[in-house]
Amino acid sequence: MNHLPRVVVALLFLAGCTSTSSDPSCISSGTRWTGGNSGSSQMNPGMDCIACHGNGHGPRYAIAGTVYSDGADADTCDGVTGVSIELKSVDTGETVTATSNSAGNFFLQNNQMFAGKYTARVINNGKVRAMATPQASGACNSCHTATGANGAPGRVIIP
Ligand code: HEC
Ligand code: HEC
Repeated sequence: MNHLPRVVVALLFLAGCTSTSSDPSCISSGTRWTGGNSGSSQMNPGMDCIACHGNGHGPRYAIAGTVYSDGADADTCDGVTGVSIELKSVDTGETVTATSNSAGNFFLQNNQMFAGKYTARVINNGKVRAMATPQASGACNSCHTATGANGAPGRVIIP
């Protein structure tokens, strides 16, 4: 009888840790999010976070997206961790920076982000890849899809 609670606790712990699984078709990371829409900072990499998080489904974010090493990685593939996403205000020159997590996801809450248009720089190991065209929407993944939408060249990728 003494063993039962410990087994249950171990199973709950494992359940919380199995929302990512190995998938070689995900070039950037070799892993994929399998947790569906359950709330997590690792959730739904590659998908349009702001479509949900801009309108009250889950916490509100001003900008959010996913950074990859492969420009054509599919939705829910994990991206690259520890990359800086620097946003610069077109109006004031102010900059703010988000850092990608273990899923490659990055996000800033409304009170961490300036208003108005921005340009973006992706900085990794001292190298830079820049988006020179100012954008108003913080929904990076709405344009940076696996095939590219609205003129964007596929995913947000590291330099
Ligand atoms: C289909 C809608 C949907 C999409 C797409 C989505 N989310 Fe979520 N997210 C939610 C909902 C709903 C919750 C709240 C779930 C809850 O409270 O249990 C949530 C919760 C979260 C949380 C909070 C987790 C916590 O522990 O409190 C973070 C962080 C998050 N999402 C980040 C992201 C990021 C980054 C993306 C894009 C890469 C994203 N989400 C895409 C619906 C979505
Ligand atoms: C409304 C569509 C749109 C949104 C939203 C958007 N982008 Fe872009 N992005 C583009 C277009 C179009 C280009 C190509 C033109 C350019 O480089 O300025 C681009 C290019 C880039 C590039 C350079 C690509 C390369 O290969 O050189 C980076 C980096 C980038 N975007 C990052 C981001 C980040 C980070 C976000 C979110 C904070 C974001 N983008 C949001 C449309 C968008």
